[in-house]
Amino acid sequence: MKVLVTYLSRTNNTRKIAQAIFEEIKTDKEFKKLDEIENLNGYDIIFLGFPIENFGPSDDVKVFLANNTSNKRIALFVTHGSPEFSDYLTPWLDQCRNALDSSAELLGLSNYQGEVAQRVIDSMSKSDNQMLRYFAKESPKSKGQPDEKRIESAKEFAREIMKKVT
Ligand SMILES: Cc1cc2nc3c(=O)[nH]c(=O)nc-3n(C[C@H](O)[C@H](O)[C@H](O)COP(=O)(O)O)c2cc1C
Repeated sequence: MKVLVTYLSRTNNTRKIAQAIFEEIKTDKEFKKLDEIENLNGYDIIFLGFPIENFGPSDDVKVFLANNTSNKRIALFVTHGSPEFSDYLTPWLDQCRNALDSSAELLGLSNYQGEVAQRVIDSMSKSDNQMLRYFAKESPKSKGQPDEKRIESAKEFAREIMKKVT
């Protein structure tokens, strides 16, 4: 069985989660940035991670998922600046699920808070959008994430998925 762990990460939060997942996989495995791979062919299981940007996956992630996940077995992991218990995460995570091809098998979806970069906070705080100004005010609480607890929970996620498929 061959496993791919691939991720998009602009400020390393999603990369940290990806690394934790990768460490837990005890079979034939590869670790790659999303922009280093042409397609997902040749892998039995794919762990694929990215940050939430503007209330969902970014457009490039959506295009990649729509074009490359037909009949694939996928576990998604995402990071976001908001706390994991926020109600407003529900539609963002639905968008992540819905971005997959309808023939893909979603093995699991996990999400973790990740520190929001100061330049993002600065830009949101100047926005005309009230919601974005609210996020700018809340975002400093994400400092230091993903922490050890979240890294451990990502490892647990990897173990659960691998148990499911072996
Ligand atoms: C352009 C942009 C938009 C973002 N939009 C959201 C958002 O809608 N909701 C949220 O909770 N976090 C948002 N964030 C915060 C990131 O999702 C979060 O910091 C994430 O952990 C970054 O992951 P990375 O370091 O792997 O890129 C946004 C960040 C950027 C750069």
